[in-house]
Amino acid sequence: MTGEPQTFRATGRLVDFMRQADEPGLINLAAGVPGLDALPADELRAAFARGFEREGAGMFAYHHPEGDRRLRELLAARLKTRGAEVRGEQLVTVTGCTQGLQLLLSLLVQPGDIVAVEAPAYYGLLELLSTAGARVLPLPVGDGDGIDPAEVEPLLARWKPRCLIVCAALSNPSGATLPESRRERLVEVCRTHGVRLIEDDIYGELVDGGAPRSMLAWDDGSTVSYVTSFSKTISPGLRAGFCVPGSLHEDYAARKCQQDLHSAVPTEVALREFLETGALDPHLARLRARNLQRRTLGLEIIARSFPAGTRVNPPRGGYMLWVELPQPADLAAVREAARRESIVFASGAVFFTQPPARTCLRLNCAKASADELQHGLTRLGALLCAAAQGGA
Ligand SMILES: Cc1ncc(COP(=O)(O)O)c(C=O)c1O
Repeated sequence: MTGEPQTFRATGRLVDFMRQADEPGLINLAAGVPGLDALPADELRAAFARGFEREGAGMFAYHHPEGDRRLRELLAARLKTRGAEVRGEQLVTVTGCTQGLQLLLSLLVQPGDIVAVEAPAYYGLLELLSTAGARVLPLPVGDGDGIDPAEVEPLLARWKPRCLIVCAALSNPSGATLPESRRERLVEVCRTHGVRLIEDDIYGELVDGGAPRSMLAWDDGSTVSYVTSFSKTISPGLRAGFCVPGSLHEDYAARKCQQDLHSAVPTEVALREFLETGALDPHLARLRARNLQRRTLGLEIIARSFPAGTRVNPPRGGYMLWVELPQPADLAAVREAARRESIVFASGAVFFTQPPARTCLRLNCAKASADELQHGLTRLGALLCAAAQGGA
């Protein structure tokens, strides 16, 4: 149910999901990343080598708590192309989007405070909120355009949450992307009601046809805090991300420094070299094409193999499909049966703070090879059809 703040109890554990990540022989439709062949390994190797050459021992020293200066300038320049008037010194590098979000929450949220999120929302975020003792106000994500500012304004006005966290492009797991008109309006609504708007932009660069403008484009520094990482675009193992905290900058930088002094220098130097040589855009073009191919294959198999009436709203990029079944199904039993065949997927319920009205699944089409995807999704469809007829 959406519209009322709730105390959230995690229904899974992130650590257990992550332990699945490197299990050999698994057809992994649950993971949040594409397969290893999608990573720009050669370009990264070259970037690390150039970094070592240029920095020498400096690559292994302490450095600036807010991150490599040149890297921050490059990142700010990239954000400028998306409408955000930011300078390098307004950015703080972080160890993945997870740390970026966790630091913001540690500044904004005390136990019992209300935080508004999309329903459904990224599971790891819900777990962070539950650890922070937040009460979660779930906001409905109606269709492929994400939350509707007109619909949520009365809820924000009524509950005055400490912040609203939105995965504004290719939201995980719904796949929704906020159009620019909704972005602008959401910034206005949050400003009007004194709600800090946290934009999680981790999938922004995966939008087909190019990343939309960031919500920073409509902010005067007072309302939006922006956070992202390169986990979904360059490499999740780099653990490289950054935050534009806006008016929270000074406290954010201090909190970051308390937590781990600064992010890893070799990673930042390599990322800087990667960006400096212009490796990102050609890589993104290849990645988007690969994602589109896999998504298209996934949608075809689902249309063929899943129960009649299954709904999938094709996202505007990325590799995740959010699937709604036409009837309630015992997904726990389907998961067990699939696991026996070494197939794993994410049950939709973990992305909600209350059991959802419909039975949903999130499927990753880009981690498994094309053959594995073909096999895994076809088998999963058969198991779901059997469950719909009463025998998983
Ligand atoms: C919406 C969202 N935010 C944050 C994260 C965590 O990202 P990172 O690996 O950079 O910590 C994920 C990972 O799946 C995600 O989907």
